[in-house]
Amino acid sequence: MEKYVINGGNELHGEVSISGAKNAAVAIIPAALMVNGVCRLENIPQISDADMLLTILTHLGCKIRLINKSTIEIDSRDVSLQDSPYDLMRKIRASYYLIGAMLARFGKAKTTMPGGCNFGVRPIDQHVKGMTALGAEIDIRNGFVYADTPDGKLHGNRIYLDKVSVGATMNIMLAATMAEGKTVIENAAREPHIVDLANFLNSMGADVRGAGTDTIKINGVEELHGGTYSIIPDQIEAGTYMVAAAATHGRVLIKNVIPKHLECISAKLRETGTTVEEFEDSVLVTGPEVLKKANVKTLPYPGFPTDMQPQMGALLCMAEGTSVITEGIYDNRYKYVNELRKMGAEVQVDGRIAIFEGGQKLTGAPVMACDLRAGAAMVIAGLCAYGTTYVEDIHFIERGYENFIGKLTALGADIRIADFPENEKNSDGAKIS
Ligand code: UD1
Repeated sequence: MEKYVINGGNELHGEVSISGAKNAAVAIIPAALMVNGVCRLENIPQISDADMLLTILTHLGCKIRLINKSTIEIDSRDVSLQDSPYDLMRKIRASYYLIGAMLARFGKAKTTMPGGCNFGVRPIDQHVKGMTALGAEIDIRNGFVYADTPDGKLHGNRIYLDKVSVGATMNIMLAATMAEGKTVIENAAREPHIVDLANFLNSMGADVRGAGTDTIKINGVEELHGGTYSIIPDQIEAGTYMVAAAATHGRVLIKNVIPKHLECISAKLRETGTTVEEFEDSVLVTGPEVLKKANVKTLPYPGFPTDMQPQMGALLCMAEGTSVITEGIYDNRYKYVNELRKMGAEVQVDGRIAIFEGGQKLTGAPVMACDLRAGAAMVIAGLCAYGTTYVEDIHFIERGYENFIGKLTALGADIRIADFPENEKNSDGAKIS
């Protein structure tokens, strides 16, 4: 079994470059299915969720050409729904975007119910509500989602989302792009990756307006054409390095970011005494000698992102005073707290609220990555702890962080990947003993 082995205590110093945004890439790759031509996608992150979606597209008949490590070309001219790889679809959350993309291009779709991190119940009723309003007939049975249209196409409509949902907003946007007529999505989510998906679609010939506000208007077009698009930098990867720099009392220049997307994280870190300086496409984070408490409430964008909640939780274990986190999105996103407790953290959880008694000296321990961001939190805790931390289930972390070990090592962290029983590997993952 592979684990991360972290010897804590090193401050992080230096520069790190942020990769393309996972949550944009995992929507834009399925969206490439809708294009009757060749899309060149730049700044694709090298993470397992993106790899898995590219494999799914290959099964569906797309031809994928690797131009360089972060640029690919997807040729979707000969796509069919014959060989859908359901076992792969079941493994990731973002496979739900295949419903919108297939419905748009073929007027029908069959996928599995989505997988992904388990934060409690994660329904897709708002996706279904949207597709149904566009004229699709959706049937969910035996773990599959079947979607069909009586006349072979979707029809624009006005859709009010009962919940602000990133996935539903993007999925309905995909489906509506090639629907007949005009669609309006109200109470839409406003995350940067929603704007990125709209920009991608528009650059391929779609007519999507208002992304980034709570009302998105889409005039359906008959066809999308090929083109080139570069994915935005990952807000959450950047935020994770910002928190890691602050928590280790280090000083890190985080490059290739959009500072505006990081404002909610920068503001919260400043409350902890951290200095965050913003430049055009980078931020410089300097951790204080002593971190101060802060209260955090996660909210849809532009609020503090739920996907940064565990990393911030790890930091608050060490901040002087009592901090309160309120999880505003998910019912069950505190599983990582049990792991932090193994390292000496004092945290009480009551429903969606967690109270961190800070100022703790964490100690290394064997811990689990309960999910992607919980895993990142364990790594941050391990970087700060006395002694050695062993993080298990690292496949979760590799779903969303490109070259995590390599980037952290370059910043001075003592972290490596090892097979247990131990067989050390270097930062490229190759065995060295
Ligand atoms: C996306 C992100 C995930 C992030 C989340 C919130 C991807 C692939 N994943 O997930 O990393 O944590 O946004 O920023 O982009 N809900 C419903 N019905 C629905 C859809 C959602 O009740 O049909 C609820 C969810 O259970 C959750 C809330 O709405 O409580 C927000 O979920 P949503 O924004 O849809 O998250 P995802 O798109 O799954």
